[in-house]
Amino acid sequence: MTSYGSKVADWPYPCWIAHRGAGKLAPENTLAAFRLGADHGFAMFECDVKLSADGEPFLLHDAELDRTTNGQGSAAIQTWDKLSRLDAGSWHGRAYAGEPLLRLEALARWLQALGLMVNLEIKPSPGEEVRTGRIVAQHVARLWSQSEIKPLLSSFSVEALQAAKDAQPDLPRALLLDKWVRDAVDQAVALGCRALVVNQAQLDVDKIELGHAVGLKMLTYTVNDATRASSLWYAGLDGLITDRIDMFEPQARLGLNPGYMSPTIGTLLDTAGDSQQGFLAGHHV
Ligand code: G3P
Ligand code: MG
Repeated sequence: MTSYGSKVADWPYPCWIAHRGAGKLAPENTLAAFRLGADHGFAMFECDVKLSADGEPFLLHDAELDRTTNGQGSAAIQTWDKLSRLDAGSWHGRAYAGEPLLRLEALARWLQALGLMVNLEIKPSPGEEVRTGRIVAQHVARLWSQSEIKPLLSSFSVEALQAAKDAQPDLPRALLLDKWVRDAVDQAVALGCRALVVNQAQLDVDKIELGHAVGLKMLTYTVNDATRASSLWYAGLDGLITDRIDMFEPQARLGLNPGYMSPTIGTLLDTAGDSQQGFLAGHHV
């Protein structure tokens, strides 16, 4: 089992993280999604941040507006004034009709009012990598200036992470990897990252130990299966991003890393075919 020597202050984040606010149960990256994720006991959220044409950081996964709003085309060429009038909820269902796109500033206020944490994935529109990294980092430093726990900035874009580092070197960063590469750990260290966030299909105990060996926290996205979650926790995982805020609600409420549980109890319960109960029981031994 991996040793966990680093201090809490170096890594203050909970290990259960709700993907895009509430996964697929509410319109992704809207305040309605974050509210639902919090109602399910999640204390930390992943979301996707990009810039409007006039440089306002806001939440949207795709480069285009079409899938998740009633707008069309590239989001990057619209001002925030135009974007703020779009409906980002109706695509999901009538219950969310009229839900607006969410500005980073509004998200910061809501999170801080409730003492919740966030992993901001810097998701630049094409060609906007450096500008997005820099501006998001500047806004985060200002918006969270009074908060002890800062957002974790992550990105698939090395250019965006480097720009964030140049602008605000003290903000915690993580490199996202869709595919594992041989120099993954070296890249993360060169960017001064505290963590690697790896596609769950690419992660295993050897890679987790490679990261831990240089002091990186090892996180994964997007795990929606209890058995897969269980095997990664036992492999030493530090954080898991999930859409299944409903299924993992009991574990998120406990907030403890299931990998800390007694291996004996875990084995017994896994053998009994009840790994979810294994998580819960493990915290009481
Ligand atoms: O940040 C983890 C995960 O969100 C990366 O993939 O496409 O869901 O943003 P995606
Ligand atoms: Mg994302």
